Amino acid sequence: MPFSYPDSPVFYRKLTRTYPLIVRGEGCWLFDAAGRSYLDGCGGAFVVNIGHGVTAIGDAMARQAARVAYVSGMVFTHEAAESLAAEIVARAPGDLDHAYFLSSGSEAVEAALKLARQYWVESGRPDKHKVLALTPSYHGNTLLALSASAREQYRSTYRDWLVTVPRVPAPYVYRCTCRGHGPPCAACSGDALEAAILHEGADSVAAFIAEPIGGSSTGASVPRPEFWRRIREICDRHQVLFVADEVLSGAGRTGTWSALEPYGVSPDILVLGKGITGGYAPLSAVVAPRRIVDVLAEGSGALLHAQTYSHHAVACAAGFATLEYIADHDLVARCAGMAPAFHAALEPLRDLPHVGDVRGRGLLAGIEFVADKASRVPFPRSVRFAERFAEAALNAGLVVWPNAGHADGINGDLVMLAPPFIITESEIAMMADRLRTALAATVATTVATTAAQMPTPR
Ligand SMILES: Cc1ncc(COP(=O)(O)O)c(C=O)c1O
Repeated sequence: MPFSYPDSPVFYRKLTRTYPLIVRGEGCWLFDAAGRSYLDGCGGAFVVNIGHGVTAIGDAMARQAARVAYVSGMVFTHEAAESLAAEIVARAPGDLDHAYFLSSGSEAVEAALKLARQYWVESGRPDKHKVLALTPSYHGNTLLALSASAREQYRSTYRDWLVTVPRVPAPYVYRCTCRGHGPPCAACSGDALEAAILHEGADSVAAFIAEPIGGSSTGASVPRPEFWRRIREICDRHQVLFVADEVLSGAGRTGTWSALEPYGVSPDILVLGKGITGGYAPLSAVVAPRRIVDVLAEGSGALLHAQTYSHHAVACAAGFATLEYIADHDLVARCAGMAPAFHAALEPLRDLPHVGDVRGRGLLAGIEFVADKASRVPFPRSVRFAERFAEAALNAGLVVWPNAGHADGINGDLVMLAPPFIITESEIAMMADRLRTALAATVATTVATTAAQMPTPR
């Protein structure tokens, strides 16, 4: 039976392709039922940081499941949540000292934004209800998280259901006006955020949510070093809560536990997901300080965001075991240590046709493709360059993450790399070789046949 719709009873994420059946994972590698192997260059979806097949995590989950798998977070707590929370807050920046556990990044973003809103309501400032967010950005696919996301391909069908989130241009140096050099443009200086707060009226703004290092939406774009300090200062001055969405950039991915760490900046609310269990269980966290949680404790008495699987014992056990494994094997330092070799291997790709930019930090990188390198004009969306590249990479035995739409909301193609922190130099070299193979195949099969659709360079 082919693993494709409609032959299989699985309602697949993509209904138009045939899926390889993965039977095993080990380290940075995945193996399918047909005997093919794949280098997992993006940790699935920026998730697999300690590598595949780490039995210690499965063992910890099995022990927890055998003791007790589930209790309602309304009635009981358990050692797994208590010990994981202690580890999460020990690593959190600033005064963030309480962790609320959910399953997905989208749920945690929803909960974080609701927390911000509830905080202002219970502080006696109910007019503070607006959330500001960057463009491009991605914060998830449930409706409030999608409202905060600048991701047209997901939003357009549901537009009538989404709430208005005023947008602020992201510090996306490949496509902003200053291009990261000389005096910063409004997006890169933070002036754009301040202008948006003043335009909306600070008294109506509850929170600003942003990814400290761009995720898939800006392809690992790294803002200028002074950017986040300015954002912190602006948020403080206007009494706007700064929600850092580190679902993708957190848990060591950029070479520090928090991507904000090098800037010495602490958010008011931190959102974690993906890497905190290395993919062994679905788990996310909202991390908040007492100065915020106390307001709820002394007011309504609870965050108004109940979910059946919050604080799940087996998921928390997976998180605790993963954090322990990362610490025992010094994997955040390893991520930082491998980053120079990783970026040195990717940098020469910049010279290849249609590679507009290569960027990132730690073991997170984005490669942006353009129709014309001089003008940065993207391919028309109909070419589906990023998706074709990802399929070509898979054929070459490399898993990459494609993203589209960042250039102008519709067009724009990039792929992301986020390998497990245990990747070796020879695997990095293999990754670079396979990227070259994929690019040659993509250019050969798409550019030649779609030349007629390309825009004239400006
Ligand atoms: C920055 C960021 N926030 C939130 C999310 C949503 O997480 P999830 O897909 O687990 O719901 C993602 C997912 O890619 C993300 O990259």
